Amino acid sequence: MSRATITVDRDFTVGPVPRRIFGSFVEHMGRCVYTGIYEPGHATADEEGFRTDVLELTREMGVSVVRYPGGNFVSGYRWEDGVGPVAERARRLDGAWHTVETNAFGLHEFASWARKADVEIMEAINLGTRGVEAARELVEYANHPGGTALSDLRRRNGAADPFGIKLWCLGNEMDGPWQIGHKTADEYGRLAQEAGKAMRLVDPSIELVACGSSSSGMPTFGEWERIVLGHTYDVADYVSLHAYYEEREGDAASFLASAVDMDYFIESVVSTADAVRAAGKHKKFINLSFDEWNVWYQSRPGVDSPAEIEAAGTWTEHPRIIEDEYNVTDAVVVGTLLNSLLRHGDRVSIANQAQLANVIAPIRSEAGGPAWRQSIFWPFARMSELARGEILRLAVSSDKYGTARFGDADLVDASATWDEETGRVAIFLANRGLDEDADVSVSLRGFTGSRVTRAEVLTVPEGGDRFTSNIVDAQDRVGLRPLSAAVDGATLTTTLPALSWAVIEVEVAKA
Ligand code: AHR
Repeated sequence: MSRATITVDRDFTVGPVPRRIFGSFVEHMGRCVYTGIYEPGHATADEEGFRTDVLELTREMGVSVVRYPGGNFVSGYRWEDGVGPVAERARRLDGAWHTVETNAFGLHEFASWARKADVEIMEAINLGTRGVEAARELVEYANHPGGTALSDLRRRNGAADPFGIKLWCLGNEMDGPWQIGHKTADEYGRLAQEAGKAMRLVDPSIELVACGSSSSGMPTFGEWERIVLGHTYDVADYVSLHAYYEEREGDAASFLASAVDMDYFIESVVSTADAVRAAGKHKKFINLSFDEWNVWYQSRPGVDSPAEIEAAGTWTEHPRIIEDEYNVTDAVVVGTLLNSLLRHGDRVSIANQAQLANVIAPIRSEAGGPAWRQSIFWPFARMSELARGEILRLAVSSDKYGTARFGDADLVDASATWDEETGRVAIFLANRGLDEDADVSVSLRGFTGSRVTRAEVLTVPEGGDRFTSNIVDAQDRVGLRPLSAAVDGATLTTTLPALSWAVIEVEVAKA
Protein backbone atom coordinates (compact mmCIF):
# COMPACT_ATOMS: atom_id res chain seq x y z
CA MET A 1 0.00 0.00 0.00
CA SER A 2 1.37 3.44 -0.94
CA ARG A 3 0.37 6.68 0.76
CA ALA A 4 -0.45 10.23 -0.26
CA THR A 5 -1.59 13.25 1.71
CA ILE A 6 -3.08 16.18 -0.13
CA THR A 7 -3.86 19.60 1.32
CA VAL A 8 -6.18 22.15 -0.25
CA ASP A 9 -7.07 25.52 1.20
CA ARG A 10 -10.22 27.47 0.41
CA ASP A 11 -8.21 30.69 0.08
CA PHE A 12 -5.52 29.27 -2.22
CA THR A 13 -6.96 29.13 -5.70
CA VAL A 14 -5.43 29.03 -9.18
CA GLY A 15 -8.38 30.81 -10.81
CA PRO A 16 -11.76 29.97 -12.32
CA VAL A 17 -12.11 26.68 -14.23
CA PRO A 18 -11.75 27.64 -17.92
CA ARG A 19 -14.65 25.73 -19.45
CA ARG A 20 -12.88 25.72 -22.81
CA ILE A 21 -10.34 23.19 -21.51
CA PHE A 22 -13.03 20.55 -22.04
CA GLY A 23 -12.72 20.91 -25.79
CA SER A 24 -12.53 18.31 -28.54
CA PHE A 25 -11.52 18.18 -32.17
CA VAL A 26 -13.32 17.17 -35.37
CA GLU A 27 -11.00 16.79 -38.36
CA HIS A 28 -11.79 15.66 -41.87
CA MET A 29 -9.67 12.60 -41.22
CA GLY A 30 -10.57 8.93 -41.42
CA ARG A 31 -14.04 8.37 -40.02
CA CYS A 32 -14.28 11.30 -37.62
CA VAL A 33 -16.75 13.25 -39.78
CA TYR A 34 -18.08 10.63 -42.21
CA THR A 35 -19.70 7.70 -40.34
CA GLY A 36 -18.56 9.39 -37.11
CA ILE A 37 -20.64 12.48 -36.44
CA TYR A 38 -22.32 12.45 -39.88
CA GLU A 39 -23.93 9.50 -41.60
CA PRO A 40 -27.09 10.18 -43.60
CA GLY A 41 -29.11 6.99 -43.78
CA HIS A 42 -27.96 5.71 -40.39
CA ALA A 43 -30.84 4.52 -38.19
CA THR A 44 -30.18 7.34 -35.71
CA ALA A 45 -29.48 10.08 -38.30
CA ASP A 46 -31.57 13.23 -38.01
CA GLU A 47 -32.92 15.24 -40.96
CA GLU A 48 -29.45 16.73 -41.56
CA GLY A 49 -27.66 13.38 -41.48
CA PHE A 50 -26.12 13.83 -38.02
CA ARG A 51 -25.87 10.67 -35.97
CA THR A 52 -27.95 11.41 -32.88
CA ASP A 53 -26.32 8.54 -30.97
CA VAL A 54 -22.93 10.29 -31.39
CA LEU A 55 -24.51 13.70 -30.67
CA GLU A 56 -25.91 12.36 -27.40
CA LEU A 57 -22.55 10.94 -26.37
CA THR A 58 -20.89 14.27 -27.22
CA ARG A 59 -23.32 16.09 -24.96
CA GLU A 60 -22.91 13.45 -22.23
CA MET A 61 -19.14 13.92 -22.43
CA GLY A 62 -19.61 17.61 -21.65
CA VAL A 63 -17.59 18.90 -24.61
CA SER A 64 -17.44 22.71 -24.53
CA VAL A 65 -15.66 23.70 -27.76
CA VAL A 66 -14.73 21.81 -30.94
CA ARG A 67 -11.80 22.61 -33.22
CA TYR A 68 -12.53 22.13 -36.95
CA PRO A 69 -11.78 21.19 -39.81
CA GLY A 70 -8.15 20.13 -39.05
CA GLY A 71 -5.41 19.32 -38.24
CA ASN A 72 -3.11 18.52 -41.12
CA PHE A 73 -6.20 18.47 -43.37
CA VAL A 74 -6.72 22.22 -43.07
CA SER A 75 -3.33 23.04 -44.62
CA GLY A 76 -4.58 21.95 -48.05
CA TYR A 77 -8.27 22.86 -47.60
CA ARG A 78 -10.33 25.35 -49.57
CA TRP A 79 -13.18 26.38 -47.27
CA GLU A 80 -15.24 27.43 -50.31
CA ASP A 81 -15.42 23.75 -51.37
CA GLY A 82 -17.54 23.01 -48.30
CA VAL A 83 -20.31 25.58 -48.83
CA GLY A 84 -23.18 25.85 -51.31
CA PRO A 85 -25.44 23.14 -52.74
CA VAL A 86 -24.04 19.75 -51.70
CA ALA A 87 -24.64 18.18 -55.12
CA GLU A 88 -22.38 20.80 -56.72
CA ARG A 89 -19.50 20.50 -54.27
CA ALA A 90 -16.14 19.45 -55.67
CA ARG A 91 -14.54 16.12 -54.84
CA ARG A 92 -10.90 16.72 -53.97
CA LEU A 93 -7.78 14.78 -53.12
CA ASP A 94 -6.75 15.41 -49.54
CA GLY A 95 -2.98 15.01 -49.53
CA ALA A 96 -2.67 15.09 -45.75
CA TRP A 97 -4.48 11.76 -45.28
CA HIS A 98 -4.36 10.33 -48.81
CA THR A 99 -8.14 10.42 -48.96
CA VAL A 100 -10.88 11.55 -51.34
CA GLU A 101 -12.80 14.39 -49.70
CA THR A 102 -16.39 14.60 -50.98
CA ASN A 103 -17.08 17.92 -49.23
CA ALA A 104 -20.59 16.71 -48.41
CA PHE A 105 -19.90 18.11 -44.95
CA GLY A 106 -18.59 21.65 -44.62
CA LEU A 107 -18.92 24.85 -42.63
CA HIS A 108 -22.74 25.10 -42.58
CA GLU A 109 -23.11 21.46 -41.61
CA PHE A 110 -20.52 21.85 -38.87
CA ALA A 111 -22.14 25.02 -37.51
CA SER A 112 -25.49 23.27 -37.37
CA TRP A 113 -23.98 20.17 -35.73
CA ALA A 114 -22.21 22.40 -33.18
CA ARG A 115 -25.50 24.07 -32.25
CA LYS A 116 -27.09 20.67 -31.69
CA ALA A 117 -24.09 19.43 -29.71
CA ASP A 118 -24.15 22.67 -27.70
CA VAL A 119 -20.46 23.37 -28.36
CA GLU A 120 -18.56 26.48 -29.35
CA ILE A 121 -16.80 26.44 -32.73
CA MET A 122 -13.03 26.83 -32.98
CA GLU A 123 -12.27 27.30 -36.67
CA ALA A 124 -8.83 26.76 -38.18
CA ILE A 125 -7.73 28.64 -41.29
CA ASN A 126 -5.38 27.30 -43.95
CA LEU A 127 -1.95 28.93 -43.70
CA GLY A 128 -0.29 26.05 -45.58
CA THR A 129 -1.39 26.56 -49.18
CA ARG A 130 -3.38 29.76 -48.62
CA GLY A 131 -3.02 33.02 -46.76
CA VAL A 132 -4.33 36.46 -45.86
CA GLU A 133 -7.07 36.73 -48.47
CA ALA A 134 -8.75 33.37 -47.91
CA ALA A 135 -8.57 33.91 -44.14
CA ARG A 136 -10.25 37.31 -44.10
CA GLU A 137 -12.83 36.15 -46.63
CA LEU A 138 -13.76 33.21 -44.43
CA VAL A 139 -14.25 35.54 -41.43
CA GLU A 140 -16.44 37.80 -43.56
CA TYR A 141 -18.45 34.84 -44.87
CA ALA A 142 -18.91 33.39 -41.39
CA ASN A 143 -19.32 36.44 -39.18
CA HIS A 144 -20.48 39.48 -41.16
CA PRO A 145 -24.26 40.02 -40.84
CA GLY A 146 -24.98 40.82 -44.52
CA GLY A 147 -24.85 43.37 -47.29
CA THR A 148 -21.58 42.18 -48.84
CA ALA A 149 -21.00 39.57 -51.53
CA LEU A 150 -19.60 36.98 -49.11
CA SER A 151 -22.05 37.50 -46.27
CA ASP A 152 -24.96 37.49 -48.70
CA LEU A 153 -23.63 34.27 -50.22
CA ARG A 154 -23.79 32.73 -46.74
CA ARG A 155 -27.37 33.92 -46.44
CA ARG A 156 -28.25 32.44 -49.83
CA ASN A 157 -26.60 29.22 -48.69
CA GLY A 158 -29.12 28.98 -45.88
CA ALA A 159 -27.65 30.85 -42.91
CA ALA A 160 -29.43 34.18 -42.46
CA ASP A 161 -27.65 34.78 -39.16
CA PRO A 162 -23.88 34.96 -38.99
CA PHE A 163 -22.18 31.98 -37.34
CA GLY A 164 -20.48 34.34 -34.88
CA ILE A 165 -17.28 32.28 -34.62
CA LYS A 166 -15.09 33.81 -31.92
CA LEU A 167 -12.15 31.41 -31.77
CA TRP A 168 -9.77 31.01 -34.74
CA CYS A 169 -6.57 29.00 -35.19
CA LEU A 170 -3.98 30.63 -37.42
CA GLY A 171 -3.08 27.44 -39.27
CA ASN A 172 -1.99 24.07 -37.91
CA GLU A 173 1.41 22.66 -36.89
CA MET A 174 3.27 24.90 -39.31
CA ASP A 175 6.59 23.86 -37.69
CA GLY A 176 6.18 20.28 -38.94
CA PRO A 177 8.03 19.25 -42.12
CA TRP A 178 5.06 16.91 -42.88
CA GLN A 179 2.69 19.85 -43.03
CA ILE A 180 1.53 20.95 -46.48
CA GLY A 181 3.06 24.41 -46.84
CA HIS A 182 5.45 23.93 -43.89
CA LYS A 183 7.22 27.16 -42.97
CA THR A 184 10.12 28.44 -40.95
CA ALA A 185 9.25 30.30 -37.75
CA ASP A 186 9.92 33.67 -39.42
CA GLU A 187 7.89 32.81 -42.52
CA TYR A 188 4.98 31.55 -40.45
CA GLY A 189 5.17 34.32 -37.86
CA ARG A 190 4.93 37.06 -40.49
CA LEU A 191 2.08 35.33 -42.33
CA ALA A 192 0.13 34.65 -39.12
CA GLN A 193 0.55 38.26 -38.04
CA GLU A 194 -0.78 39.61 -41.34
CA ALA A 195 -3.60 37.06 -41.63
CA GLY A 196 -4.65 37.75 -38.03
CA LYS A 197 -4.56 41.49 -38.60
CA ALA A 198 -6.74 41.22 -41.72
CA MET A 199 -9.19 38.88 -39.98
CA ARG A 200 -9.53 41.32 -37.05
CA LEU A 201 -10.21 44.17 -39.44
CA VAL A 202 -13.28 42.22 -40.55
CA ASP A 203 -14.35 41.23 -37.03
CA PRO A 204 -12.53 42.89 -34.12
CA SER A 205 -14.19 40.58 -31.58
CA ILE A 206 -12.39 37.39 -32.67
CA GLU A 207 -9.75 35.56 -30.59
CA LEU A 208 -6.68 34.19 -32.34
CA VAL A 209 -4.43 31.20 -31.66
CA ALA A 210 -0.91 31.26 -33.13
CA CYS A 211 0.71 27.90 -33.87
CA GLY A 212 3.23 26.79 -31.31
CA SER A 213 5.23 23.58 -31.71
CA SER A 214 3.61 20.35 -32.80
CA SER A 215 5.34 18.66 -29.87
CA SER A 216 7.91 19.49 -27.23
CA GLY A 217 10.19 16.96 -28.98
CA MET A 218 10.55 19.10 -32.10
CA PRO A 219 14.13 20.30 -32.65
CA THR A 220 12.80 23.84 -33.04
CA PHE A 221 10.70 23.75 -29.82
CA GLY A 222 11.29 26.92 -27.80
CA GLU A 223 12.93 28.88 -30.57
CA TRP A 224 9.79 28.45 -32.67
CA GLU A 225 7.59 29.94 -29.94
CA ARG A 226 10.04 32.78 -29.31
CA ILE A 227 10.24 33.79 -32.98
CA VAL A 228 6.55 33.27 -33.79
CA LEU A 229 5.39 35.24 -30.74
CA GLY A 230 7.94 37.91 -31.57
CA HIS A 231 6.03 38.47 -34.83
CA THR A 232 2.48 37.86 -33.58
CA TYR A 233 2.43 39.14 -30.00
CA ASP A 234 0.08 42.04 -30.71
CA VAL A 235 -2.42 40.09 -32.78
CA ALA A 236 -2.45 36.69 -31.03
CA ASP A 237 -4.33 35.85 -27.85
CA TYR A 238 -3.05 32.30 -27.44
CA VAL A 239 -0.23 30.05 -28.56
CA SER A 240 -0.95 26.40 -29.30
CA LEU A 241 0.60 23.20 -27.90
CA HIS A 242 0.15 19.64 -29.20
CA ALA A 243 1.16 16.44 -27.41
CA TYR A 244 0.41 12.76 -27.86
CA TYR A 245 1.53 10.03 -25.48
CA GLU A 246 1.81 6.26 -25.80
CA GLU A 247 3.18 3.26 -23.93
CA ARG A 248 6.51 2.39 -25.52
CA GLU A 249 8.06 -1.08 -25.40
CA GLY A 250 6.12 -2.08 -22.33
CA ASP A 251 7.35 0.93 -20.32
CA ALA A 252 4.07 1.44 -18.48
CA ALA A 253 5.80 3.32 -15.64
CA SER A 254 6.91 6.18 -17.91
CA PHE A 255 3.63 6.16 -19.83
CA LEU A 256 1.68 6.58 -16.60
CA ALA A 257 3.86 9.60 -15.78
CA SER A 258 3.05 11.36 -19.10
CA ALA A 259 1.48 14.27 -17.20
CA VAL A 260 4.94 15.09 -15.80
CA ASP A 261 5.94 15.81 -19.38
CA MET A 262 2.74 17.76 -20.02
CA ASP A 263 3.43 19.89 -16.91
CA TYR A 264 6.95 20.57 -18.22
CA PHE A 265 5.68 21.41 -21.70
CA ILE A 266 3.06 23.86 -20.38
CA GLU A 267 5.46 25.53 -17.97
CA SER A 268 8.12 25.88 -20.71
CA VAL A 269 5.70 27.56 -23.13
CA VAL A 270 4.46 29.89 -20.38
CA SER A 271 8.09 30.87 -19.65
CA THR A 272 8.83 31.49 -23.33
CA ALA A 273 5.66 33.54 -23.86
CA ASP A 274 6.42 35.60 -20.77
CA ALA A 275 10.03 36.15 -21.89
CA VAL A 276 8.74 37.53 -25.22
CA ARG A 277 6.32 39.73 -23.24
CA ALA A 278 9.17 41.13 -21.16
CA ALA A 279 11.52 41.61 -24.12
CA GLY A 280 8.82 43.44 -26.11
CA LYS A 281 7.58 45.43 -23.09
CA HIS A 282 4.05 44.14 -23.78
CA LYS A 283 1.28 44.54 -21.22
CA LYS A 284 -0.96 41.60 -22.07
CA PHE A 285 -0.21 37.94 -21.44
CA ILE A 286 -0.38 35.27 -24.13
CA ASN A 287 -2.26 32.26 -22.76
CA LEU A 288 -2.13 28.67 -23.95
CA SER A 289 -4.37 26.67 -26.25
CA PHE A 290 -3.50 22.97 -25.83
CA ASP A 291 -5.50 22.26 -28.94
CA GLU A 292 -4.39 18.67 -29.60
CA TRP A 293 -3.68 16.19 -26.82
CA ASN A 294 -4.40 12.53 -26.17
CA VAL A 295 -2.99 9.03 -26.08
CA TRP A 296 -2.05 7.96 -29.61
CA TYR A 297 -0.20 4.72 -30.45
CA GLN A 298 1.79 6.39 -33.20
CA SER A 299 4.58 3.83 -33.24
CA ARG A 300 2.26 0.82 -33.35
CA PRO A 301 2.14 -0.49 -36.92
CA GLY A 302 -1.34 -1.05 -38.28
CA VAL A 303 -3.32 -1.16 -41.49
CA ASP A 304 -5.05 2.04 -40.46
CA SER A 305 -1.84 4.02 -39.95
CA PRO A 306 -1.31 7.04 -42.23
CA ALA A 307 2.01 5.58 -43.44
CA GLU A 308 0.38 2.30 -44.52
CA ILE A 309 -2.41 4.12 -46.36
CA GLU A 310 0.08 6.32 -48.18
CA ALA A 311 2.27 3.31 -49.01
CA ALA A 312 -0.74 1.43 -50.40
CA GLY A 313 -1.30 4.36 -52.75
CA THR A 314 -5.09 4.12 -52.54
CA TRP A 315 -7.46 7.08 -52.70
CA THR A 316 -10.73 6.25 -50.98
CA GLU A 317 -13.44 8.13 -49.10
CA HIS A 318 -13.10 8.15 -45.31
CA PRO A 319 -10.92 5.07 -44.80
CA ARG A 320 -10.25 3.85 -41.26
CA ILE A 321 -7.31 5.84 -39.94
CA ILE A 322 -5.80 5.47 -36.44
CA GLU A 323 -8.87 4.03 -34.74
CA ASP A 324 -6.95 3.34 -31.54
CA GLU A 325 -8.64 1.07 -29.00
CA TYR A 326 -8.17 2.47 -25.49
CA ASN A 327 -7.67 0.38 -22.38
CA VAL A 328 -7.68 0.91 -18.60
CA THR A 329 -4.08 2.20 -18.54
CA ASP A 330 -4.89 4.77 -21.25
CA ALA A 331 -7.90 6.03 -19.27
CA VAL A 332 -5.74 6.55 -16.17
CA VAL A 333 -3.20 8.48 -18.26
CA VAL A 334 -5.95 10.62 -19.82
CA GLY A 335 -7.21 11.39 -16.30
CA THR A 336 -3.74 12.60 -15.29
CA LEU A 337 -3.41 14.71 -18.46
CA LEU A 338 -6.71 16.38 -17.59
CA ASN A 339 -5.35 16.96 -14.07
CA SER A 340 -2.32 18.69 -15.58
CA LEU A 341 -4.49 20.93 -17.77
CA LEU A 342 -6.73 21.84 -14.83
CA ARG A 343 -3.81 22.55 -12.47
CA HIS A 344 -2.54 25.03 -15.07
CA GLY A 345 -5.95 26.62 -15.66
CA ASP A 346 -4.59 30.09 -14.95
CA ARG A 347 -2.61 29.91 -18.22
CA VAL A 348 -4.16 27.05 -20.21
CA SER A 349 -7.37 28.67 -21.44
CA ILE A 350 -8.33 26.15 -24.14
CA ALA A 351 -7.65 22.44 -24.62
CA ASN A 352 -8.94 20.04 -27.24
CA GLN A 353 -8.71 16.30 -26.89
CA ALA A 354 -7.93 14.89 -30.33
CA GLN A 355 -10.22 13.70 -31.75
CA LEU A 356 -13.95 13.27 -30.99
CA ALA A 357 -15.13 10.24 -32.99
CA ASN A 358 -13.29 7.14 -34.28
CA VAL A 359 -9.91 8.80 -34.96
CA ILE A 360 -7.96 8.44 -31.65
CA ALA A 361 -11.27 9.17 -30.01
CA PRO A 362 -13.31 8.70 -26.84
CA ILE A 363 -16.38 7.93 -28.98
CA ARG A 364 -16.40 5.01 -31.42
CA SER A 365 -19.04 4.27 -34.02
CA GLU A 366 -19.52 1.79 -36.82
CA ALA A 367 -21.12 2.61 -40.17
CA GLY A 368 -24.70 1.39 -39.93
CA GLY A 369 -23.91 0.14 -36.44
CA PRO A 370 -23.69 1.27 -32.84
CA ALA A 371 -21.77 4.04 -31.10
CA TRP A 372 -20.04 3.46 -27.77
CA ARG A 373 -17.78 5.00 -25.13
CA GLN A 374 -14.10 4.10 -25.06
CA SER A 375 -12.40 3.89 -21.63
CA ILE A 376 -10.96 7.42 -22.02
CA PHE A 377 -14.49 8.85 -22.30
CA TRP A 378 -15.03 8.53 -18.54
CA PRO A 379 -12.40 10.81 -16.94
CA PHE A 380 -13.22 13.51 -19.49
CA ALA A 381 -16.98 13.27 -18.92
CA ARG A 382 -16.74 13.33 -15.15
CA MET A 383 -14.20 16.14 -15.00
CA SER A 384 -16.22 18.26 -17.39
CA GLU A 385 -19.32 17.64 -15.28
CA LEU A 386 -17.81 18.19 -11.84
CA ALA A 387 -14.84 20.59 -12.25
CA ARG A 388 -16.75 23.78 -11.53
CA GLY A 389 -16.01 27.12 -9.89
CA GLU A 390 -12.43 27.72 -8.75
CA ILE A 391 -9.39 25.51 -9.25
CA LEU A 392 -7.79 24.78 -5.87
CA ARG A 393 -4.03 24.87 -5.42
CA LEU A 394 -2.76 21.54 -4.12
CA ALA A 395 0.06 20.52 -1.82
CA VAL A 396 0.67 16.85 -2.58
CA SER A 397 2.96 14.61 -0.61
CA SER A 398 2.91 11.22 -2.30
CA ASP A 399 5.07 8.13 -2.29
CA LYS A 400 7.03 8.05 -5.51
CA TYR A 401 8.15 5.51 -8.09
CA GLY A 402 10.99 5.57 -10.62
CA THR A 403 10.43 6.03 -14.35
CA ALA A 404 12.94 5.62 -17.17
CA ARG A 405 11.82 8.75 -19.03
CA PHE A 406 10.64 11.22 -16.41
CA GLY A 407 12.62 10.42 -13.24
CA ASP A 408 10.74 9.96 -9.98
CA ALA A 409 7.01 10.59 -10.23
CA ASP A 410 4.23 10.80 -7.63
CA LEU A 411 2.25 7.59 -7.36
CA VAL A 412 -0.87 9.65 -6.70
CA ASP A 413 -1.73 12.50 -9.07
CA ALA A 414 -4.51 14.99 -8.30
CA SER A 415 -6.43 18.14 -9.12
CA ALA A 416 -9.35 19.80 -7.31
CA THR A 417 -12.02 22.46 -7.70
CA TRP A 418 -14.42 24.28 -5.40
CA ASP A 419 -17.78 25.60 -6.50
CA GLU A 420 -19.04 28.15 -3.99
CA GLU A 421 -22.48 28.20 -5.63
CA THR A 422 -23.19 24.51 -5.13
CA GLY A 423 -20.99 24.23 -2.04
CA ARG A 424 -19.07 21.31 -3.51
CA VAL A 425 -15.41 20.37 -3.69
CA ALA A 426 -14.43 17.89 -6.42
CA ILE A 427 -11.16 15.98 -6.22
CA PHE A 428 -9.79 14.08 -9.20
CA LEU A 429 -7.26 11.38 -8.35
CA ALA A 430 -5.16 8.81 -10.14
CA ASN A 431 -3.15 5.95 -8.67
CA ARG A 432 -0.26 5.26 -11.06
CA GLY A 433 0.86 2.22 -9.06
CA LEU A 434 0.43 -0.88 -11.17
CA ASP A 435 0.33 -3.28 -8.23
CA GLU A 436 -0.30 -1.35 -5.05
CA ASP A 437 -3.45 0.31 -3.74
CA ALA A 438 -2.96 3.87 -2.45
CA ASP A 439 -4.24 5.28 0.83
CA VAL A 440 -5.17 8.91 0.26
CA SER A 441 -6.00 11.52 2.86
CA VAL A 442 -7.15 14.99 1.78
CA SER A 443 -7.09 17.85 4.25
CA LEU A 444 -9.77 20.39 3.31
CA ARG A 445 -8.52 23.56 5.02
CA GLY A 446 -11.05 26.32 5.39
CA PHE A 447 -13.92 23.88 4.82
CA THR A 448 -15.93 21.45 6.86
CA GLY A 449 -17.15 18.56 4.80
CA SER A 450 -20.63 17.29 5.48
CA ARG A 451 -21.00 14.35 3.12
CA VAL A 452 -19.58 12.62 0.08
CA THR A 453 -22.02 13.24 -2.76
CA ARG A 454 -20.20 11.23 -5.44
CA ALA A 455 -17.31 8.77 -5.36
CA GLU A 456 -16.49 6.75 -8.45
CA VAL A 457 -13.49 4.85 -9.72
CA LEU A 458 -12.30 3.44 -13.04
CA THR A 459 -9.91 0.52 -12.67
CA VAL A 460 -9.15 -2.98 -13.96
CA PRO A 461 -12.52 -4.76 -14.19
CA GLU A 462 -13.28 -8.20 -12.67
CA GLY A 463 -11.77 -10.84 -14.91
CA GLY A 464 -9.89 -8.25 -16.97
CA ASP A 465 -6.44 -6.73 -16.93
CA ARG A 466 -4.92 -3.33 -17.59
CA PHE A 467 -5.29 -3.86 -21.34
CA THR A 468 -9.05 -4.43 -21.20
CA SER A 469 -10.96 -2.09 -23.50
CA ASN A 470 -14.51 -1.45 -24.70
CA ILE A 471 -15.14 -2.96 -28.11
CA VAL A 472 -18.16 -3.22 -30.40
CA ASP A 473 -19.23 -6.56 -28.90
CA ALA A 474 -18.41 -5.61 -25.30
CA GLN A 475 -19.01 -1.90 -24.99
CA ASP A 476 -19.12 -1.52 -21.21
CA ARG A 477 -16.24 -3.57 -19.86
CA VAL A 478 -14.35 -0.47 -18.68
CA GLY A 479 -16.35 2.15 -16.84
CA LEU A 480 -16.96 3.77 -13.48
CA ARG A 481 -18.02 1.97 -10.35
CA PRO A 482 -18.69 3.20 -6.80
CA LEU A 483 -15.67 3.97 -4.61
CA SER A 484 -15.69 3.97 -0.84
CA ALA A 485 -14.72 7.39 0.59
CA ALA A 486 -15.39 9.05 3.95
CA VAL A 487 -15.33 12.62 5.16
CA ASP A 488 -14.84 13.47 8.79
CA GLY A 489 -14.79 17.20 9.51
CA ALA A 490 -12.09 18.58 7.27
CA THR A 491 -10.50 15.26 6.32
CA LEU A 492 -11.44 13.09 3.40
CA THR A 493 -10.07 9.56 3.15
CA THR A 494 -10.18 6.88 0.52
CA THR A 495 -8.22 3.94 -0.83
CA LEU A 496 -7.54 3.97 -4.55
CA PRO A 497 -7.19 0.55 -6.19
CA ALA A 498 -3.95 -0.11 -8.07
CA LEU A 499 -4.03 1.54 -11.51
CA SER A 500 -7.12 3.66 -11.15
CA TRP A 501 -8.66 7.03 -11.84
CA ALA A 502 -11.25 8.39 -9.40
CA VAL A 503 -13.45 11.35 -8.61
CA ILE A 504 -14.78 12.29 -5.19
CA GLU A 505 -17.22 15.12 -4.71
CA VAL A 506 -17.89 16.44 -1.21
CA GLU A 507 -20.52 18.86 0.04
CA VAL A 508 -18.68 21.46 2.11
CA ALA A 509 -19.37 24.51 4.22
CA LYS A 510 -16.91 27.31 4.90
CA ALA A 511 -15.18 26.65 8.23
O1 AHR B 1 -4.95 14.55 -34.69
C1 AHR B 1 -4.24 13.93 -35.72
C2 AHR B 1 -3.19 14.81 -36.36
O2 AHR B 1 -2.14 15.00 -35.44
C3 AHR B 1 -3.59 16.21 -36.74
O3 AHR B 1 -4.15 16.28 -38.00
C4 AHR B 1 -2.29 16.95 -36.72
O4 AHR B 1 -2.45 18.31 -36.45
C5 AHR B 1 -1.47 16.21 -35.69
O5 AHR B 1 -0.19 15.95 -36.12
